[in-house]
Amino acid sequence: MSNESLIARRQRAMGPAYSHFYKEPLYLTRGEGVWLFDNKDRKYLDCYNNVPSVGHCHPYVVDAITKQIGTLNTHTRYLHHAIIEYAEMLAATLPGDLSVCTLVCTGTEANDLAYRIARTVTGNEGAICTVGAYHGNSTLVSELSPEFERLRPQPDFVVDVAAPDAYRGPFDDADADYVQKYADLVDDSIAELAEKGHKPAMMIIDSIYDAAGVHTPPPEYQQKVYEKVRAAGGLVVCDEVQSGLTRMGDNYWGFMDSGVVPDIVTMGKPMGAGHPLAVVVTTPEIAAGFATESDYFNTFGGNPVSATAGKAVLEVVARENLLANVKRSGDYLIAGFKKLADKHALIGDIRGKGLFLAVELVRSRDTREPASSEAAAVIEHMRENGVLLALIGQDRNTLKLRPPLVFTTEHADIALAALDDALSTVAHA
Ligand SMILES: Cc1ncc(COP(=O)(O)O)c(C=O)c1O
Repeated sequence: MSNESLIARRQRAMGPAYSHFYKEPLYLTRGEGVWLFDNKDRKYLDCYNNVPSVGHCHPYVVDAITKQIGTLNTHTRYLHHAIIEYAEMLAATLPGDLSVCTLVCTGTEANDLAYRIARTVTGNEGAICTVGAYHGNSTLVSELSPEFERLRPQPDFVVDVAAPDAYRGPFDDADADYVQKYADLVDDSIAELAEKGHKPAMMIIDSIYDAAGVHTPPPEYQQKVYEKVRAAGGLVVCDEVQSGLTRMGDNYWGFMDSGVVPDIVTMGKPMGAGHPLAVVVTTPEIAAGFATESDYFNTFGGNPVSATAGKAVLEVVARENLLANVKRSGDYLIAGFKKLADKHALIGDIRGKGLFLAVELVRSRDTREPASSEAAAVIEHMRENGVLLALIGQDRNTLKLRPPLVFTTEHADIALAALDDALSTVAHA
């Protein structure tokens, strides 16, 4: 089957709202570890996909799901040991009182539920989100996702606050007070909500600020923000859909790097290694407050097959010591990017932690003019050379590397060589 005929059929069958990566879309037919294979059996190094967290088609996960689906699949209104064991195993990875898990199917659902919980237990309606953030695609959660320009008037209960972007944001790290200044913007957001007649029910934070370009501010930033939101009567919801499950290399969950404990944590993408599994975790007190208002049921969320997938993933993460692997490979990649920055003037900034890294390309290090077309050319060139990654940021000039957690330093060498070659080619084009 040719790619051309599939593109035309897809357009007819699925409509124009779906986009795809690359000028020539890739037709992938199988995956194994950090490798993807196309319909001509060409091999690509996957530096982009975080959903296959423990590697594409990890045999242990595949075996566990296969056995469970051949035995039973129901829902949470019957007792099943796998569902309870999963919730207990997940709670054991979290600090403080974060121990009550609600299982859902997507990150969007998790964030939507987090808002419902926050609204119920605080009695407030307001929500603070970060400029450039993405938290999901439902009607409500897309209002909390200003990555895409809002085409309708912003609801009065939602306000945006600038991300702590020390490279392009209003304050840069040359200013000794920049952390305090970014945190103080949250006071302005709380005041803006008050002007509109609202108090915050929650502030939602993506620990790695992925869609806003990848930022890892010093721990004091989150500490100050948490204090401000809580003093105004709101809860802090930490969206760990991207940054969680060892992705940032020092801890299981990104917020732990800042020494804070959120009121609610949402998880998604990597949790089921490709099986749709997402979770909302909160404290017994908050969970009890929510339960006074609402029973919770989700037809597919928390079914025994999904719970088995989640358990198998946690087992592989522990058994293969992926936290240490992420740290080792991430530090190695950062060192490699720094060397490339000595050689390639296009590299303006290197950000991120663990296996969630961003390389921002600029036409001039002085003006920081975004090198958007150059970044697009780099991505295409690397694909030609068998390495897959993607672009982020408002100007789409930042390369994003966020491979499966089993990515090693040997894989990093392949990615760095391909990037070196792509940057040389694009600079001389
Ligand atoms: C930080 C973050 N939160 C939530 C979501 C939404 O997850 P889902 O696509 O599973 O609804 C995404 C998806 O990209 C995300 O990046």
